Amino acid sequence: MLKVDKHDSENGFYRRDVISVKDLDRAQFEALFAATERVMNMTPEQRRTLCAGSTLGYLFYEPSTRTRLSFDAAMASVGGSSLGISDVSSSSTHKGESLADTVRMMSIYSDVLVLRHKLDGSSRFASEVSSKPVINAGSGTEEHPTQAIQDLFTIRQEKRKIDGLKIGIIGDLKYGRTVYSLLYGLGNYDVDVRLISPEPLKIRSDSTYEIRKRLEFVESSDISDHIEELDVLYVTRIQKERFPDAEEYLKVKGSYVVGLDMLRQMKRDAIIMHPLPRVDEISPDVDATDNAKYFRQAEYGMHTRAALLAVMLNEKGV
Ligand code: NCD
Repeated sequence: MLKVDKHDSENGFYRRDVISVKDLDRAQFEALFAATERVMNMTPEQRRTLCAGSTLGYLFYEPSTRTRLSFDAAMASVGGSSLGISDVSSSSTHKGESLADTVRMMSIYSDVLVLRHKLDGSSRFASEVSSKPVINAGSGTEEHPTQAIQDLFTIRQEKRKIDGLKIGIIGDLKYGRTVYSLLYGLGNYDVDVRLISPEPLKIRSDSTYEIRKRLEFVESSDISDHIEELDVLYVTRIQKERFPDAEEYLKVKGSYVVGLDMLRQMKRDAIIMHPLPRVDEISPDVDATDNAKYFRQAEYGMHTRAALLAVMLNEKGV
């Protein structure tokens, strides 16, 4: 929903919701990347003018470390402030307040809302009741668009391009929402994608139609079929909390671990990414290698979010 009475503004993000990567095209990704680079090159003083006087309101109905803190840090870095609820069980939700009412309240106190919720469709719903733009910071197993923006920016920064790369995505492709947003985003580029997972954690068949409209991919349950040719290996955590049955989780627990042995088979300049948190799927001894980019990826997350907030809240953009 557009939260202003006029048509599109220059950058296309001004006062718009960010709910799904499916709504973003290549030109918008490129505009965000260029804005992020400009933000990164600014002095702290210049940066603080971008959203001076604006307030970000966050509502997190699911745990978060990086996403919430990076929004907080990003907003502070562009001169704004943030307030919100990071553990909704301590709020009036506990007394029975609906998501709609909580969102309505939050949109009175803030200029932009950031929502994480366990239900698919939650952010889209929130955007319909909010008078302020809504950013989806994770909706169930569905999407996590700002993670995809940071993931694509990381690839572009670390590989100097996105087109032409061979990208392997390994892990919980069934419940991992970052994977869906990443795939929709990669659909704007000319990439060769391999989806690698234990059989029970394959990509959801109700989404493959949407994904295939955007890109071609090959599915596999054996990483050794692909490891030598990958430019990027994107690793994800098994989403234990989303399994309807604990027994099913135990069957796949620990079924893949990226370690130094695997790294030795990879291209020397391949990069390893992970949205984090990591549990046991990347061995800690990989962290010190030049291939490990997951902590830098988290750092880029703060800058891409700062740029996004600036283009959403500042009509002049960055
Ligand atoms: C991800 C999420 O919440 O989907 N975390 C994050 O925001 N970086 C990934 C995960 O929880 O595994």
